Amino acid sequence: MSQKIVLDVDDLLDSDIQAVFDRASNLKRNGIHISPTIRGKLVSLVFLEDSTRTRMSFEAACMRLGLRTSFIEESGSSIAKGESWLDTFLNVAAMKPDLIVIRFGEDEELEKALRTSSVPIISAGQGRSSHVTQALLDAFTLIENFGQIRGRRVVIVGDIKHSRVATSNIRLLTRFGAEVAVLGPKEFIDCPDVNSGAVKTINSLDEALGWADVMMMLRIQMERLPSTLKSTFSTADFNAKFGLRRAHLDKMAAKSILMHPGPVNVGVELDREAMIHAKSRILQQTEHGVYIRAALLERILG
Ligand code: CP
Repeated sequence: MSQKIVLDVDDLLDSDIQAVFDRASNLKRNGIHISPTIRGKLVSLVFLEDSTRTRMSFEAACMRLGLRTSFIEESGSSIAKGESWLDTFLNVAAMKPDLIVIRFGEDEELEKALRTSSVPIISAGQGRSSHVTQALLDAFTLIENFGQIRGRRVVIVGDIKHSRVATSNIRLLTRFGAEVAVLGPKEFIDCPDVNSGAVKTINSLDEALGWADVMMMLRIQMERLPSTLKSTFSTADFNAKFGLRRAHLDKMAAKSILMHPGPVNVGVELDREAMIHAKSRILQQTEHGVYIRAALLERILG
């Protein structure tokens, strides 16, 4: 793969994405094994925002491929002494790892430095802008469940405006031929990807349940809400209007599925019974994260 800086889905050619899906499918069926061509290479994991799934799945993928990892997060690093994210990245890059996986918030200087890095980069999620590997694993989950992305109807529900998962998924799924719609409070769907007309707007949960093959529920990104919105937002009101329950999933078409990138705020966008419903693919998404990240690491390092 010629592209070694992967910050969003637009950085990947269709052929690269298809190759990652094919390889992830192979890894799912045959297991991830130590790769002689990349074994022993060093991957630095830089997590400047919190994570469970993305961090652990990158680590699992690295270890199963026989890569070595070093890890840094804000807590316990010199960021606590006032060092900037940019300088933290530049110092990690100066140690010449073979690849850096980085999760960070909005930071233009850091993004510029990543774009011109001589060390290959994979984004592990950037502020509200992008989450490329999440979109890849979500698209792969559609392929595994439906055979293809083209023609599938996906409703993304909740906080579209502040969600990097929504942004990257809208771009990737529409590019590969899915029909994407959004549903949520007006203040959470007023954003460029929706206003551009790239996706359809749905007005009620019932309408969504009747239309969708996939209900993709999102967490409200409380940490990214402006204070005015945060002070007026009611989780109870949101749950009453948009929260998904078992009965909703029961009445969807037999082959329809529920997705959620995690972490789930139980009792807000989903209740526990919906999470463990037979149509839920939430833990399958987490499993797929390891295959997709292993496939991308192999492709960039190999
Ligand atoms: N989906 C996702 O990015 O989860 P984490 O924040 O736990 O990595």
